[in-house]
Amino acid sequence: MHHSIEIEQLYYSYPDGHQALRGVSLHVEPCEKVALVGPNGAGKSTLILHLNGILNGRGQVRVAGLPVVKENLGKIRARVGMVFQNPDDQLFSPTVYDDVAFGPIYQGLPQEEVRQRVEKALAVVNMSDYLQRVSHHLSVGEKKRIAIATVLSMDPEILILDEPTAGLDPRARRSLMKLLENLDITMLVSSHDMLMVRELFPRMVIMDDGCIVADGPTQELMADEALLNAHGLEKP
Ligand SMILES: Nc1ncnc2c1ncn2[C@@H]1O[C@H](COP(=O)(O)OP(=O)(O)O)[C@@H](O)[C@H]1O
Ligand SMILES: [Mg+2]
Repeated sequence: MHHSIEIEQLYYSYPDGHQALRGVSLHVEPCEKVALVGPNGAGKSTLILHLNGILNGRGQVRVAGLPVVKENLGKIRARVGMVFQNPDDQLFSPTVYDDVAFGPIYQGLPQEEVRQRVEKALAVVNMSDYLQRVSHHLSVGEKKRIAIATVLSMDPEILILDEPTAGLDPRARRSLMKLLENLDITMLVSSHDMLMVRELFPRMVIMDDGCIVADGPTQELMADEALLNAHGLEKP
């Protein structure tokens, strides 16, 4: 059995020369739920963008057992659901239906199954009434939930979410948490929502300045106030 996510000594600099990842190694096992925390600018989003080949740094990255290289990107993107920090990067179709149907259509599923997948995914994020709405006219919180539906409709084996609760109202946040709690798949989720991290993620990885500075049981790391303070985090 392979690791779900395997990152070895990953380095990445943006074109302007800023070094955003400085030798990151991380293994995530199947069905593990891992939270990625750390201050703004720590490199969380940069790391996440390496997991489906949007960015390509120096080092090794394998996801679902496959090296993240050009030839594998189709397979990886079909099995790994990634929700970006900014939902505007994810929604591009004329209607919500089209956005959520895009993945299943791309996977070649029959029309009836596509429709079922879309309806189920929208029900899960409490957005069933939005089928014919225009994605880019929605509020940030609504867009976030649609963005999450666009990956749930693909029935992913690995879910990677970048700050999923940012901008959600309490009810939407709660229902997202319920969804994550009940999904028994591998998850890597970046967040500043320490209450959610404590409630749902048994393992926590702290990043700061392009490095992983701590990786362990959430309960233990959250009890270490000096560690949290040193990296701009607060005990929930
Ligand atoms: N496109 C970019 N060009 C140059 N620097 C960037 C770019 N995107 C992010 N950075 C920088 O890389 C660092 C890590 O950013 P990011 O991965 O977004 O951090 P986080 O998600 O933890 O807040 C930050 O210092 C950020 O300013
Ligand atoms: Mg980020």
